[in-house]
Amino acid sequence: MSETYKILTYPESVLLTKSDVVENIDEDTQKLIDGMAATMYAAPGIGLAANQVGNLQRILVYDLSPQDKDRNLSVLINPEIVHSEGKIEYEEGCLSVVDFASEVTRPSYVKVQGVDRHGNPVTIEAEDLFAVCLQHEIDHLNGVLFLDHVSTLKRAMYKKKLKKMLKKGGPVTKL
Ligand code: NI
Repeated sequence: MSETYKILTYPESVLLTKSDVVENIDEDTQKLIDGMAATMYAAPGIGLAANQVGNLQRILVYDLSPQDKDRNLSVLINPEIVHSEGKIEYEEGCLSVVDFASEVTRPSYVKVQGVDRHGNPVTIEAEDLFAVCLQHEIDHLNGVLFLDHVSTLKRAMYKKKLKKMLKKGGPVTKL
């Protein structure tokens, strides 16, 4: 098992920054992916984007059953949503947004294209939670958090709460 990375949390600026296209998949990329996977499973979470561990490359990992014995890691590099439709409301949380969860409305179906960790092109069609997960992670790569999808009021309330937490010496609980 790889070493885990520290998961950065809002309002860390790297989370609000658009990530760069990966031009070259090399040994360092593989190391980063293994570390991201270990970090996601340890959290545990169902998805993680590279900027959540401080790396601004368009790489994400996901596994919809991270606690199962038969884990099945997926890796997407340079993912793009090429089609979306439908509508789903789902209660989202994020490893980088401590102590907050909220209903977010998104398309319920997405078609995503990218490459896997070996550079092979992949096309993924995802529905429901899978679609939510991919959109949430691709948002990360664009410097967007699920907070940006909630109402202004809810976001303002969270920012206020976070300010108080940070004043007290930082949030202690991790989702
Ligand atoms: Ni997230």
